[in-house]
Amino acid sequence: MELPEQGAALGGAMRAPIGVFDSGIGGLTVAAALRRMLPLEDILYIGDTARVPYGGKSASTIERYGREISGMLLAEGAKMIVVACNTASALAVPRLQQSLEVPVIGVIQPGAAAAVEATRNGHVGVIATRATVQSGAYEREIHRLNPEIRVSAQACPLLVPLIEEGWMNDPVTRLVIERYLGGLLELGIDTLVLGCTHYPLLRESLGAFVGEGIALVDSAQNCAMRVDAELKSRGMASSGSDSGSLRVTLTDPSAAFLDVAQEALGLEVGEVRVRPVQMLSE
Ligand code: DGL
Repeated sequence: MELPEQGAALGGAMRAPIGVFDSGIGGLTVAAALRRMLPLEDILYIGDTARVPYGGKSASTIERYGREISGMLLAEGAKMIVVACNTASALAVPRLQQSLEVPVIGVIQPGAAAAVEATRNGHVGVIATRATVQSGAYEREIHRLNPEIRVSAQACPLLVPLIEEGWMNDPVTRLVIERYLGGLLELGIDTLVLGCTHYPLLRESLGAFVGEGIALVDSAQNCAMRVDAELKSRGMASSGSDSGSLRVTLTDPSAAFLDVAQEALGLEVGEVRVRPVQMLSE
């Protein structure tokens, strides 16, 4: 597949949908914040369920996935791409921003900004996929905002499959959380960045384990604020008075997807389609 003509998306502007993607259901935490803050906007969400999880894949594979899914969103007329996946934000956003004409917004900068604002003792923990941790993207962004802050990162590769399975409050999930987070807590962090958009779905179990003294922060709210500001500054915000909709495309069927969207996030999903990934010809 060639990347589609992007001029049409820019020209069609205000009523065109915002394209949002993730490897699976995690990006719905960002879609939920977008729905709350920008109720007039249509959202077109792609969950790349055929290839989830992204977090253990190589940088070049994740970058290609990012281009392929963005291409599918642009082919549907997206006016902006929101990369609602930390892994793809860390590894694919720089190239997408260079190569696409539509604005591309990732979740690392919004998450880092939330952490810098929240920390009092200057020691921030980051939990994320292996690929995000290895990329060093959170350290870089937090240090760009405040070089004094100490950052301790921990990869948690088993959490995404447990969340995709819908095991948010399961004893197995709590054991896995304890195993990953125990060491991080001993280091004395006062803020924990949920550096994977799936993790806010575990907020209750994570909060119960870390206790009230540690602030849990994620990207969703700050990301939605950036999208809002970007759309307004470019004159691309929806000007209609009808409320927007959330349409979902999955690249493979997923049993838990709708349950999570509706039960855990209270999202009303208008339409769910399954479409195979449109591969890019290199
Ligand atoms: N939700 C994603 C993230 O924010 C992807 C997780 C994965 O697929 O491994 O990193």
